[in-house]
Amino acid sequence: MAEVPPGVKGMNDILPPEVSKWQFLEQKARDVLDAFAYRELRTPILEYTPLFVRTVGEVTDVVEKQMYTFDDRDGRSVSLRPEGTASAVRAYVNESQWNKEPVTRWYYLGPMFRHERAQRGRLRQFYQVGAELFGAGEPSVDAEMIAMLVALLTELGLPATAVDVTINSLGEPEERTAYRDALVSYYGAHRDQLDEDSRRRLETNPLRILDSKNPEMVALNAHAPILIDVLGAASRDRFARVRELLGGLGVRYEVDPRLVRGLDYYTSTIFEIKSSAGDLGAQNTVAGGGRYDRLVQSLGGPAVPAIGFALGVERTLLAMSDPAESYEPALGVFFAPFDAAALTYALPIAHELRTKGLRVEFEHRSASVGAMLKRANKLRARAAVIIGPNEVASGQLTVKDLAKGTQSLVPAAELEAKLREMLD
Ligand code: HAM
Repeated sequence: MAEVPPGVKGMNDILPPEVSKWQFLEQKARDVLDAFAYRELRTPILEYTPLFVRTVGEVTDVVEKQMYTFDDRDGRSVSLRPEGTASAVRAYVNESQWNKEPVTRWYYLGPMFRHERAQRGRLRQFYQVGAELFGAGEPSVDAEMIAMLVALLTELGLPATAVDVTINSLGEPEERTAYRDALVSYYGAHRDQLDEDSRRRLETNPLRILDSKNPEMVALNAHAPILIDVLGAASRDRFARVRELLGGLGVRYEVDPRLVRGLDYYTSTIFEIKSSAGDLGAQNTVAGGGRYDRLVQSLGGPAVPAIGFALGVERTLLAMSDPAESYEPALGVFFAPFDAAALTYALPIAHELRTKGLRVEFEHRSASVGAMLKRANKLRARAAVIIGPNEVASGQLTVKDLAKGTQSLVPAAELEAKLREMLD
């Protein structure tokens, strides 16, 4: 036997019935985002590497350790996108989108790539539903976006008590310089306790130390200075207003002054959502996001404020506790022809029903009626159409109601109407 070629580690095939649950999530996401007037953006999966270095940040786990980066045949370094915001901002700037509309709301849905240690809820190819809003820096935008995300999770069936929103404010970059100094002196005093990454980051990007997952660093981080204490009045007032508006929208949230995000572009409000529902395990952060008011400008555009989030699809699916089968569409009709003559007669009839939008499975293999009906039941068909020599001769088809077990003879011309009545 030939050896089975393996799929790439951390990258999954998604098969039915699981794919039905995916489609349900995707459709709900489109519906909710549409209600908030977001429109879909599709960008390439591959970008030139410097885009991510300049946006996500050179000294981040994503860029330092996780990107799939290689030279293409022209010798230019390209990377599989590890996230969607960088491409959205690139497209926004390339298209001079601010000239077309004052406020742009985009969403996207698709695969992202990070070479992480694969485990439950952590993949190397994973999917995100993301949204980005450009052109409005008001605190109400932040509140609206977080409330939209919670609404989506609710629509997906997550119980409100299992959706934990955490928010924080990173203030403005200027405010963070004072904070950076405070961190340098704190970690400098504990230099012997720093791991290798953190020691390096102390020189390059001390804020990133706060994001470390190393348990020893987490303990040290617990006593690090808190950013919110050094924020100016404007940033604090803004954050207070975001909280007030969130309260008005009925969003339950907690402020975590130690929340930082793993990407460098954030300013002001940041947020994460964890879920205790379903089957998530340790990787229970289902979504994250925040403001990035300086990013458009840093990629050569004007000073346009922006905010966004991304929802991890696989993690969200794990939090949705209903089994994949429950999202499967029921099969409408099963066609069971007895023999070659019946098949010849029935195939055009089934074809016509399909073109009229009925979901029809047709048995092409010769089998006993019993075996065919068994298969129809297994497929959860509502009705079976049975065609034997008598049916072909009379033009009357046997229609069996698989739920009730009853059957009747239906003239071919009335078949569609009869089936629709049963399927309603
Ligand atoms: P992020 O926090 O890096 O943010 O990713 C968002 C979500 O993607 C995470 O909360 C998680 O659910 C999911 N995710 C991330 N990595 C993996 C992985 N290896 N396996 C499975 N799921 C994963 C961003 O990507 C930002 N672009 C969000 C954003 C948009 N900020 C502003 N606009």
